[in-house]
Amino acid sequence: MCGIIGVTGADVPLDVLLGGLRLLEYRGYDSAGVALVALPGDDGSTASLWRRRSAVRAQSIAELESSREAAPRARTGIGHTRWATHGAATEANAHPHTDCSGEVAVVHNGIIENHRKLAARLVAAGHLLASETDSEVVAHLVEDELALGAGLAEAARRVAGELQGDFAIAVAYAREPETLAAVRRTSPLIVGRTGTLGVVASDIAAVLGTTRDLYALGDDQVAEVRPGSLSVSDLAGNPVDPRPVRVSWGVRAAQREGYEDFMSKEIHEQPRALTDTLLGRLHPDGATEFEELSLGEEVLGAIDRVLVVGCGSSYHASQVGRLAIERWAKLPATAEIASEFRYEDPVLDGRSLVIAVSQSGETADTYHALREARRRGATTLAVTNVVDSLMAREADGVLYTRAGPEIGVASTKCHVSQLVLLQAFALHLARLRSTLDADEASRLATGLAALPELVARALGKSEQYGAVAARIVEANDVFFLGRNVGYTIAQEGALKLKELAYVRAEAYAAGEMKHGPISLIDRNAVALVVVTRGALLEKLLANVEELRARGATVLALADEGDKETSALADLVLEVPPTEELLSPAVAVVPLQLLAYQIARTRGNDVDRPRNLAKVVTVE
Ligand code: F6R
Repeated sequence: MCGIIGVTGADVPLDVLLGGLRLLEYRGYDSAGVALVALPGDDGSTASLWRRRSAVRAQSIAELESSREAAPRARTGIGHTRWATHGAATEANAHPHTDCSGEVAVVHNGIIENHRKLAARLVAAGHLLASETDSEVVAHLVEDELALGAGLAEAARRVAGELQGDFAIAVAYAREPETLAAVRRTSPLIVGRTGTLGVVASDIAAVLGTTRDLYALGDDQVAEVRPGSLSVSDLAGNPVDPRPVRVSWGVRAAQREGYEDFMSKEIHEQPRALTDTLLGRLHPDGATEFEELSLGEEVLGAIDRVLVVGCGSSYHASQVGRLAIERWAKLPATAEIASEFRYEDPVLDGRSLVIAVSQSGETADTYHALREARRRGATTLAVTNVVDSLMAREADGVLYTRAGPEIGVASTKCHVSQLVLLQAFALHLARLRSTLDADEASRLATGLAALPELVARALGKSEQYGAVAARIVEANDVFFLGRNVGYTIAQEGALKLKELAYVRAEAYAAGEMKHGPISLIDRNAVALVVVTRGALLEKLLANVEELRARGATVLALADEGDKETSALADLVLEVPPTEELLSPAVAVVPLQLLAYQIARTRGNDVDRPRNLAKVVTVE
């Protein structure tokens, strides 16, 4: 979840590091830090490390910026932005960590599972550990290897062999002022170069402004990064060719481009994200084409069950996907919370298709669920926004959402792209299995193709949020209710309100209210009901009546012109009408905007909500 950046060969490495950290901040913002290898002075002083760290949450990078003037002349440095796992969010626990000599600096993303054992060994040998983190042991282990005569890259290789867990690590060393060592297992790490520079980063976005000549390190690969050159080897020291990274978006995509924050930019990019995600994949007659999908008709034709797995917003998209797969392709399909699925002893075989849905392609819970599914013999498919991500590489097949980089911590454009891509894939399965007639397939394809336009229309209705937002702020506690696909929308709406606006919101399948939660309803209760116009409409409206009868304020999300709902509800948010099962991409938009508006009114940081990180690489 942390962000790593490193550069060597730069005239002002601190500029590269701080610029990179700004772009990485979405990965974690509890603290940040940089270390430079200060060049020897004219006075005969030797090279040394200069380090600055700050733990003032979202202001940490700004504080580092204020130390620019004090920065020494250097060509090489590393930086880090942290989401705390082991050890509180303090300056002492902020990266980079150093060894006892103060000559080795390390930044780390991931978890070193055997850190206690290693720390005990280091302390027994006389090392002084200054933090509560699992990461610091790496600096001291490297120190020991250097003392035995290894060069920096060799020391990093030997240390990596001792580590258990997931890690991406970059190391700088005062006595090799033009070298960085980088090593990884599971947590991603990119290395790159220009004619004069070498770079390391956990994310493409952080270095895309510097170079597009980028390579993804593989598991247990070590890179020696020098100005203009890279050499990569495995843990045994054998040279390997790192895999080039293809980047389909430009550096501007990871910038705010005039919006006040990434979240509003990304909400407004949703029509574009959907257009790109569907591009070339859907034909008006209902035919589908998934060029990169390596699961052929024979494999997919043999599938007898689908499990769609994800976390948070990706789980909500998975629920929409599973409804479409079951309804259109007539395959038994379930949606599973990834962190639970892995430990449920799932019964799977080659005819089970497990679809892992993840914006980042890196989320530990989903990644391990995917691996478990493979281990149990299932056919696997990753749906992700990040090309070549862990899950893209792990799964038998991959489908990419084409939403561009999502920097705001709360998922918006990736969530809608995921669910629409899953719906297009459901059509694909339906076609293979001949479960839809030609007219129906064509009607659904046309409906999917119209979604970008409908989302754009939903975005244009921001004038209607004020009164609804005021009622929610007043209540500070909201039920989100819906049935069938409306329940998935309700869950996503509640999640957005919780994570951005810090308002307690509970999503319920509306029919469940009478089985217990209705005892919470009184005149102070506020319920936001997602009214989707399908077979359950009358039953849903009856549920609304039950709430009104007990004095609740009813806020409704309903199709434009839905008079029946308007008559029942106290306030209505209108959305352009769509076919019921296609409605989530459109209906979620007002709920995103509502959460955004309330969060802004409360002065919350919408791009970096408290306690969260964009990429959750711990279980
Ligand atoms: C909510 C949100 C999270 C993510 C979840 C999974 O707005 O962003 O709930 O959806 O952490 O992340 P990915 O999709 O990267 O696996």
